[in-house]
Amino acid sequence: MRVARTLPALTRAIAALRARRGRIALVPTMGALHEGHLSLVRLAQKRAERVIVSIFVNPTQFAPNEDFRSYPRTFAADLNALAAQHVDLVWAPAAETMYPEGFGTKIVPEGAALAGLEDAFRPHFFAGVATVVAKLLLQCAPDIALFGEKDYQQLKVITQLARDLNLKTRIVGAPIAREADGLARSSRNVYLTPDERKAAPTLYRALQACAAQIAAGQPLGAVLDEGRAAITRAGFALDYLEARHSATLEPIGSAQEGPIRLLVAARLGRTRLIDNVAV
Ligand code: PAF
Repeated sequence: MRVARTLPALTRAIAALRARRGRIALVPTMGALHEGHLSLVRLAQKRAERVIVSIFVNPTQFAPNEDFRSYPRTFAADLNALAAQHVDLVWAPAAETMYPEGFGTKIVPEGAALAGLEDAFRPHFFAGVATVVAKLLLQCAPDIALFGEKDYQQLKVITQLARDLNLKTRIVGAPIAREADGLARSSRNVYLTPDERKAAPTLYRALQACAAQIAAGQPLGAVLDEGRAAITRAGFALDYLEARHSATLEPIGSAQEGPIRLLVAARLGRTRLIDNVAV
């Protein structure tokens, strides 16, 4: 497994991968790899002959009051895990490589990025994500790039970005990887205290209960109100629990307007968790 840390090294490594022919997949990550990332790598290996994983904790998608400094960084363990998965190339640029002095371009997405979900609570987030993902896609020029559905709105924003900018890469979404008790896997789960960790799967259970009730024909508004109350009772500070059209993220008034995606974000102590399910 090669590790490129500079743009010239990346260019050489990608030329070597291209010379061996076959499709190239990119799995963009911020490191602190867990089973969710590794399942993306395995899916990438099914869809492409060569797999690149990028590891870059992108400062521009964190607000000043967020956890950029404390975000878990486990680079040596990440490299071991990726080597064990037979990844071909790791792209691990320094912040100065991604954002050299004088860097002055920002991609500010609209459409899905203004759905009133994550953007309402993290207004800086999608410009940071769109700018860094566009750079990663241009730097690596992969045939496909894989993103987890846990960040469902992010997946929509990136799909729209690739389409709007006529990027050649096909964006592929991958199912959410969960712990045995249903908690969606996330690098930020390490912040949870033992008590919070016990309470955390409530989020997924509430989503499942809401999805089952909506599928059984119960009125959307009442179901969501009960879901919000259950999440709050479990000790979360709720940011949102919403039913949206699964393709457009437009608000939904009744099940007939679907297909529906239920999306939630809530804080447990210092940890902000997000999750979603299809109805
Ligand atoms: O989902 C993530 O880990 C990040 O937002 C991404 C897509 C790697 C961009 O920094």
